[in-house]
Amino acid sequence: MKAVQITEHGDAEVLHYVDTEVPRPGPGQVRVRVRAAGLNPADTYMVRGGYEFFHNPLPWVPGFDSAGDVDALGEGVSGLAVGDRVFVAGIPAGGHGAFAQYHVADARVVRPLPDAVDYPEGAALGVPYLTAYRALFQRADLRPGETVLIHGASGGVGQACVQFARAHGARVIATAGTTEGLALASRQGAHVAVDHSTPEHVAELHELAPDGIDVVVEMAASSNLEADLGLLGRDGRVVVVGARTPVEITPRLVMRTEAAVLGVALWNITPEQTHQALSAIGAGLENGTLAPYVGHRLPLERIADAFALVTTGHRLGKVVLTVA
Ligand SMILES: NC(=O)c1ccc[n+]([C@@H]2O[C@H](COP(=O)([O-])OP(=O)(O)OC[C@H]3O[C@@H](n4cnc5c(N)ncnc54)[C@H](OP(=O)(O)O)[C@@H]3O)[C@@H](O)[C@H]2O)c1
Repeated sequence: MKAVQITEHGDAEVLHYVDTEVPRPGPGQVRVRVRAAGLNPADTYMVRGGYEFFHNPLPWVPGFDSAGDVDALGEGVSGLAVGDRVFVAGIPAGGHGAFAQYHVADARVVRPLPDAVDYPEGAALGVPYLTAYRALFQRADLRPGETVLIHGASGGVGQACVQFARAHGARVIATAGTTEGLALASRQGAHVAVDHSTPEHVAELHELAPDGIDVVVEMAASSNLEADLGLLGRDGRVVVVGARTPVEITPRLVMRTEAAVLGVALWNITPEQTHQALSAIGAGLENGTLAPYVGHRLPLERIADAFALVTTGHRLGKVVLTVA
């Protein structure tokens, strides 16, 4: 089969499109004929090496998230049949290898893909939608009627947060750094969208929530954490999803509102929490409240271009690799 493989760590130049063996599903596993695979920032961290959550052996086929058709079942798998349309969310089961024509995954993270959802959309679900669910509900305990700020709503995780929070009955304030990103956040269900690239945006957020924001989901804590703490209302929660460099904060801001700063690392999700999150994703796909926007579709052999898209500049929605 064709696959993307690395034999050393580095930038896009270490990603090779090669012929390799079709993997066999072991007990409790499913083999999926991949039609699309989602590219996440975590893939780029792992390709570069030194990622704190997972150390991949070399040679290695990256990719956690895919969508396609069940091709073979390992011993003991029930509830799925050859030919079923499915999506795969690999991380909770430590799975990888999605950037290939065939992807073997633990059956517990392989879920039905409704007919109305195409394969690239299915490949956009795994890491982003699990992370969004974990941030909003398993960490911040977002309640209907609360005000939530999704700081970075134009990307893979952010759009999922907007959709989940809106369906849950929260008032949703979203940010993005481009006109297209702001329009996307509004289409996804944000009640109001604010441009985080302007110096005035923090004042604008204060005006939008004079009594304070209940929950902030933060994709860029290194830029925003101090301002986030100043925006919170009583018992507010900031959930740090993304952060790349250290940041200085004023601890008194946390005291003032008895706020909580919570972290998310999808790698810590338990099997029970994964089951809950995947069940919520399945329900949202069925009732139409969840619908990932794929802004960039590139064939698998153009992995280097896709990698560059994820590591530089603005993207819109999700970056997905299509697999012939
Ligand atoms: N902790 C975890 O378990 C976990 C899981 C998944 C992802 N992550 C991390 O979460 C982050 C987002 O992931 P993703 O897949 O959504 O990435 P993505 O698709 O590349 O989206 C990045 C988002 O960050 C926004 N952003 C950039 N600068 C910002 C700023 N100064 N303030 C607010 N938002 C800003 C972007 O908005 P514009 O482009 O419109 O400016 C965009 O909406 C990444 O750092 C990723 O590594 C963490």
